[in-house]
Amino acid sequence: MGWLAKLIENTGSIFSINIEPTDNTEMIENLDARVRDATSLSKIAKNESIKQMREAEVKEASDIIGRMINNNEVVSYLTIYICVSAQEEKELNAKCEEVKREVQKLKLKIRPVTNFLLTSGFKAVAPFFTIQEDLTEYFKRNILTSSFTGGFLFNTNTFIDNRGFYFAINQNGGIIIFNIWKKDYDRTNSNMVVVGSSGSGKSLSVKHLIYNELPNSKILIIDSEDEYTYLGKNLKGKIINCGGTQTEHILNPLQIRVNKDDEDDLNAIALHFQFLHTFFEILFPSLTDIEFSLLDLVLEDLYTKFGITQSVDISKLKNTDFPKLEDLYYLLEDKNEIDYKEEYVKLLSLLRPIAIGQASTIWNGYTDITIDTRLTIFNTKNMQEFQTQYKRAQYYNIMSYAWEILSKNRDERDILIADECHILVDPNIPQTLEYLRNISKRARKFNASIIVITQSIEDFLNEKIKLYGQSLLANSTYKLFFKMDGQDLRDVVKTFGLTRKRGKSNI
Ligand SMILES: Nc1ncnc2c1ncn2[C@@H]1O[C@H](COP(=O)(O)OP(=O)(O)OP(=O)(O)O)[C@@H](O)[C@H]1O
Ligand SMILES: [Mg+2]
Repeated sequence: MGWLAKLIENTGSIFSINIEPTDNTEMIENLDARVRDATSLSKIAKNESIKQMREAEVKEASDIIGRMINNNEVVSYLTIYICVSAQEEKELNAKCEEVKREVQKLKLKIRPVTNFLLTSGFKAVAPFFTIQEDLTEYFKRNILTSSFTGGFLFNTNTFIDNRGFYFAINQNGGIIIFNIWKKDYDRTNSNMVVVGSSGSGKSLSVKHLIYNELPNSKILIIDSEDEYTYLGKNLKGKIINCGGTQTEHILNPLQIRVNKDDEDDLNAIALHFQFLHTFFEILFPSLTDIEFSLLDLVLEDLYTKFGITQSVDISKLKNTDFPKLEDLYYLLEDKNEIDYKEEYVKLLSLLRPIAIGQASTIWNGYTDITIDTRLTIFNTKNMQEFQTQYKRAQYYNIMSYAWEILSKNRDERDILIADECHILVDPNIPQTLEYLRNISKRARKFNASIIVITQSIEDFLNEKIKLYGQSLLANSTYKLFFKMDGQDLRDVVKTFGLTRKRGKSNI
């Protein structure tokens, strides 16, 4: 078993496999004829060796007939072409010998292609694969489909997942068939981290995954560099521009997300207060604890004013039932007029730009998007015009909105792709990474997968946040590493305990 993998590893040979289904009736007739011939030949054989060979032939043919009739198995003609190449003749001969030995060990016949068939031989192993009938005529051999699909050839040391798609090739040239949803004792979730330097192919590999997963899953992407628009358009996805400029969409951070937390047993409003706390902490790092508790009180009043209390079923509310940032701002103004406080003044000056000022185009408004396509891309490229805190807050806002979608339906497969995820992370605000870690821990229960893409894991390993960073990285079943060097490489080697030795690992 796995002999193809062994040969690929040892000799670097190229294989081409041709399977040609046959007509069962015709096949049975041929086998019958073979049994008849071999039986009579064995009877008249003068040598014991010839007699035994014929008897073996009868047994093999009868076995196949039996399985075809009793198990409805289909027989196909199989031809395997092996192309061995080397720099020098000596090496070539040694490799050919090895190939012969391995094939003969399996009691298969191997025949060199010579003379006038050489051209057809080359064509048969070429990547554009064409069926060379002159060759199959000579070399084909019948095989039961069950022997073929049962791993006769493909039982390699690489990843061959059922219901997977072609993902990559391994270091021996073997193919990796990957099913991100497969679960077993060491593949307990479908999360993935993708790390590598700029331009190393991270987004491209994830695009390949998107293309193959789209028929089975709903996919959401946070795209801060406008890298997925082309793909999104071609796959009939929806591109939601939420980069904060005048004409773009709004995801109202004050709209309470319908999110139930099984673990902490918090209701949607309490969870949303946690979200808002982090959201404002990202935006206004200078806020003190006292100012935060005042802001919390104003928010409580705001929701009460809008009739949103614990007894209300949030899922029944419309987007326009929630307050907007300007409502929060004006309520603060009112409070300050009645009861002047320095803290109110500070909060007002901080909130002004995003509520009624130049940055109000980002968040001040009702949520005006719906997720009704399988592929949704949140494009935040235009956020680059704004300061870092705004970019980070928007990333966090989208992530929380996306999690609401992911956690809505346990039966549906959903994937959230967080590209350029370093934008979210700030050592001074561990809550964002904690949030990402938490949702990636919960994703499994909701049949969801979280794919985090970043150029450097250093961002996740800063002393202040490494508790969450390491846990996020360790918790992801799949880790894809692309080209990297220097500190990034050292971080990866240390964090994942990598060695030079080849071993069993997840991709
Ligand atoms: N294996 C590959 N084969 C062909 N082209 C590739 C391959 N890997 C990457 N590329 C090309 O290289 C370019 C950069 O790749 P990609 O955008 O995936 O990099 P990235 O790792 O996401 O970089 P960044 O961190 O800067 O976003 C793209 O144009 C992509 O098509
Ligand atoms: Mg990229």
